Amino acid sequence: MRITTEFTPFEQIEADALIVPVFEGVREERFGAADLTDAGEVTGKPLELTLIHHPPGVSASRVLLAGAGKPDKWDAAQLRSLSGAAVRHLMAKSLKRIALALAPALATGENVSAAVEGAILGEFEPDRYKTGDDRKSVERFAVVVEGGSPDLAAAADHGRILAEAQNFTRSLVNEPANRLTPSGLVEAARKLAAEYQLDCQVLDREQMEKLGMGALLGVAQGSAEPPALIVVRYKPAAGATKTHLGLVGKGVTFDTGGISIKPADGMEKMKYDMAGGAAMLGAMQAIAELKPAIPVTAFIPAVENMPGSRAQRPGDIVTSMSGKTIEVINTDAEGRLILADALHYARLQGCTHMVDAATLTGAIVVALGHLNVGLFANDDHLRDRVLAAAKAEGERMWAMPLEDGYKDYLKSAFADLPNVGGRWGGAITAAMFLKEFVGETPWVHLDIAGTAWLDEAKPFQAKGPSGVPVRTLVRLALDWQE
Ligand code: BES
Ligand code: ZN
Ligand code: ZN
Repeated sequence: MRITTEFTPFEQIEADALIVPVFEGVREERFGAADLTDAGEVTGKPLELTLIHHPPGVSASRVLLAGAGKPDKWDAAQLRSLSGAAVRHLMAKSLKRIALALAPALATGENVSAAVEGAILGEFEPDRYKTGDDRKSVERFAVVVEGGSPDLAAAADHGRILAEAQNFTRSLVNEPANRLTPSGLVEAARKLAAEYQLDCQVLDREQMEKLGMGALLGVAQGSAEPPALIVVRYKPAAGATKTHLGLVGKGVTFDTGGISIKPADGMEKMKYDMAGGAAMLGAMQAIAELKPAIPVTAFIPAVENMPGSRAQRPGDIVTSMSGKTIEVINTDAEGRLILADALHYARLQGCTHMVDAATLTGAIVVALGHLNVGLFANDDHLRDRVLAAAKAEGERMWAMPLEDGYKDYLKSAFADLPNVGGRWGGAITAAMFLKEFVGETPWVHLDIAGTAWLDEAKPFQAKGPSGVPVRTLVRLALDWQE
């Protein structure tokens, strides 16, 4: 999809369809909308779509009136959804040249970026492995601002970079586990690094053995696929900073549960258990292009959790790189085991602040459903920064408790800690477990089990991988003030 910005009057735009946002309670006079509004057929309710052929006085072949909701509820997130829903609607009709009209009052950089993001995210379909030639796509998407200034072109480009990075994450998450093994994830990281001039280093099993990463290696030992710890580095051109941001992402390319095997029903979805790792790679792609002032390093422990004959057993005790011993009560709680070593390693690599993202627990889905990412933090300041970035990017996150009182839920008679707590507060005990491995380093844990994959399509987004929380992570790095 080619993205452009145009500053000519809406009437002169050549396109297969021109998207026009209409607000609730605001009568749109142009484009033949007035009659439809008066008849109550166009109300402006969010994501209501009305297609008009041969609209009067307009060069575009069609106008799509797109409900923008109440003016006082309007924000960039609303526009992102509107743009996505409109593009999906038009794309389904095989229309290829699309434009979106932004009234001068709405023509901020944030809005232009959001419109572009919505379009690119809306176009994404997880249909890579469908054969046949009926794949639909959009050729050109133009944001039109009458009399707008050229700096809006930079905002459009910013949106394009973010959305393409997010779609890169979605395409990785969508890969089935036979096609994306831990080595496949390594290959993807190496390709990304080469293309975007990032540094990429991969620790193999032997190197991890030397470092004593017993928690990570214990998970990997049941699979014929070798594990890896992927490290991708971005360094700003201008010298030293106090901050070094670490992004740690769970990269389980398939989670059978191991010996504590999962039920067959729905197990196919466990290919998305590397969504945290894929989000870090997507974030690094955008970071390489947008160049924040602070160094950012992604750490992605990549393993396959299988019940092979060498698999770890419930009751096994492993020694993590930090020296803490862990009793593996349930081999399906593998994400926290690989993250324990990755977080510890990230600290030793000099990260001053860390954010991890992981499809960690079914419990977070019970707690928050599919709407909010569960956010846990050991530091109020970093928590607020991440929440602010998430809000600005329209990625919903909800702060969950992480108090010492929950420590009692994690007791082992035989090792320093067990890898699971009791029946209650499962997302919290998982976060409490991770907390044991970050020391004093300010850290935020994002449990994306409920939000990284959509079981049902939305008007603005295909079913499948969502690409959360790529935009939040990129904004966090870009907005960083020391
Ligand atoms: N990958 C799963 C968590 C998950 C569940 C992701 C549903 C996406 C959707 C994780 O490794 C896991 O299996 N967690 C267990 C932990 C339990 C054994 C304490 C869970 O949540 O059931
Ligand atoms: Zn699991
Ligand atoms: Zn898992």
